Amino acid sequence: MERTLSLLTPSGRLTLGNLLGALRPMAAGQDATDGFYGIADLHAMTTPHDPGRLRALVLETATLMLAAGLDRSTLFVQSRVPAHAQLAYLLECTATTGELNRMIQFKEKGRDQPTTRAALFTYPALMAADILLYGPRRVPVGADQRQHVELTRDLALRFNRLYGPVFTVPEITVPAAGARVMRFDDPTRKMGKSDADAAGVVLLLDPPDVVRRKVARAVTDSDTGPDAVRADPAKPGVTNLLDVLAACGGSAEGLTTYGALKRCVTDAVVAQLAPLQERYAELAADPAHVSSVFAAGAERCREVTTPVLEAAQAAMGL
Ligand code: TYM
Repeated sequence: MERTLSLLTPSGRLTLGNLLGALRPMAAGQDATDGFYGIADLHAMTTPHDPGRLRALVLETATLMLAAGLDRSTLFVQSRVPAHAQLAYLLECTATTGELNRMIQFKEKGRDQPTTRAALFTYPALMAADILLYGPRRVPVGADQRQHVELTRDLALRFNRLYGPVFTVPEITVPAAGARVMRFDDPTRKMGKSDADAAGVVLLLDPPDVVRRKVARAVTDSDTGPDAVRADPAKPGVTNLLDVLAACGGSAEGLTTYGALKRCVTDAVVAQLAPLQERYAELAADPAHVSSVFAAGAERCREVTTPVLEAAQAAMGL
């Protein structure tokens, strides 16, 4: 079976963007793939973090992954599989500072900060290690991760050329709808975990009335024409609502007003979140079960990754 891999960083509470861009496509492909899906806790330490909050977010993310239906894949927490950090160093010896400097996320997260952690700069080498250790054919992610997966491909090709054919070069898979969900209060900005308090960021555990309020206040435009409800680069707010609706399986057929569109989006999003939240409540009552699923997954990951790490070490002369 074809292998797939993807991780989520527990740097905040998961959003509708994480669900539509990543979790749902990951869950949908499970029966046809040998899926490895992880929680990138090491990546959550690249910006100032609180240890207790990180621990709580890892458990919440793990529970949400299971609640989203990832129950037929190998699930793991990155730090429990030592090969990730070990291969990351070898890949840092393969990447250049110029390449890492060009990463948009580094520029965005480092901007306006008086200091940045060194790990924020080297993070793409760790992400490349996350991927290359498992030899996945596909990496299902949202569009914001495209540049990092492309760097991973470049590093794999370079490593193979310099030291021998150790790595499989992965393909990126981005969903047709929901690949880049934008904030409802500001459709020029990505809906991200780090803006969890924002009025236009829908969290996976938001109750229906909160979802309703956030969608109702979504920024649109002053167009009142008969074809106002249409995707158009000049209408980012409406385009985003239509994209979310499509990703939730809804249709905007026959809708002519923004009020009707927003009601439709609310219903579609609530219908996506309700079963997930119900399952979350059941799973959250038994954290030991959630932890045991991830512990068993990490065990399998250690078996899968050790020979790849050893092959990379040997190829580099270690
Ligand atoms: P992270 O934690 O920021 O996001 C997790 C996944 O959700 C997707 N995503 C979105 N998709 C659509 N619209 C949005 N607004 C949105 N926000 C986030 C992301 O694209 C991602 O698929 N560096 C990664 C985690 C990572 C990883 C990996 C991913 C670490 N190692 C190896 C794939 C393979 C990150 O921080 O994603």
